[in-house]
Amino acid sequence: MKKFYPDSKVEVQGFSAKFYDHLMNIMTFGGYNTFIKKAIHSMKIDQNDKILDFGAGTGRNALLMNKYLSEKSEILGLEISDYMISQFEKKIRRFDNVKVLKKRIDEPLDYKDEFDKVFISFVLHGFPHQVRKIVIQNAFKALKPGGTFFILDYNEFDLNNMSLIFRIPFKIVECPYAFDFIEKDWKQILSDAEFRDYEEYLFFHKYVRLLGAKK
Ligand SMILES: C[S@@+](CC[C@H](N)C(=O)[O-])C[C@H]1O[C@@H](n2cnc3c(N)ncnc32)[C@H](O)[C@@H]1O
Repeated sequence: MKKFYPDSKVEVQGFSAKFYDHLMNIMTFGGYNTFIKKAIHSMKIDQNDKILDFGAGTGRNALLMNKYLSEKSEILGLEISDYMISQFEKKIRRFDNVKVLKKRIDEPLDYKDEFDKVFISFVLHGFPHQVRKIVIQNAFKALKPGGTFFILDYNEFDLNNMSLIFRIPFKIVECPYAFDFIEKDWKQILSDAEFRDYEEYLFFHKYVRLLGAKK
């Protein structure tokens, strides 16, 4: 499939998409599972929550979020990669309340005042900034008033102060868009989009952050 944003690495393709979960485990020296469980625990998911998962990937996160939910609640994943969608569908086939649709999140979406939480994990950094604003608007519109947008992604930091053992892999692995993502003031950007009341949780030596913002 041709990329929408040629410089982006979040449009994961081929081998990387097929073995995405394994690659994450390897790249974090086996730490990914503990990390993602902690991050999802921090979202304080209520058993009746309706959750929209932007760039939902293999369904690993949806499966973990679903542990907190009752059968009456719902998770809807939006994803563009067929490789990811097939892994997602395989993982969630026992659960009628979890679904995935092939849909772009970087174009205006129709969901309005429907979800208690919108979750986006390691996707936002991979878009040009103007495109990120569309994604943020989609999240705002899709949330019920009082609902929370959770961004799990890189924290804000100065790359020059990053220790070499993290800086070298970051420079090798990451796409050009990630370099401006880490320099931005995300609470300000979200406030400009009318979000408020922030909460944050830090992981991996504070280089990764779960940022929650209320509609
Ligand atoms: C780095 S992966 C993260 C996957 C998952 N969120 C996770 O944390 O495991 C980025 C995901 O975003 C999806 N993606 C990229 N661009 C997208 C778009 N425009 N609309 C929907 N999904 C997109 C990719 O196919 C990929 O599955």
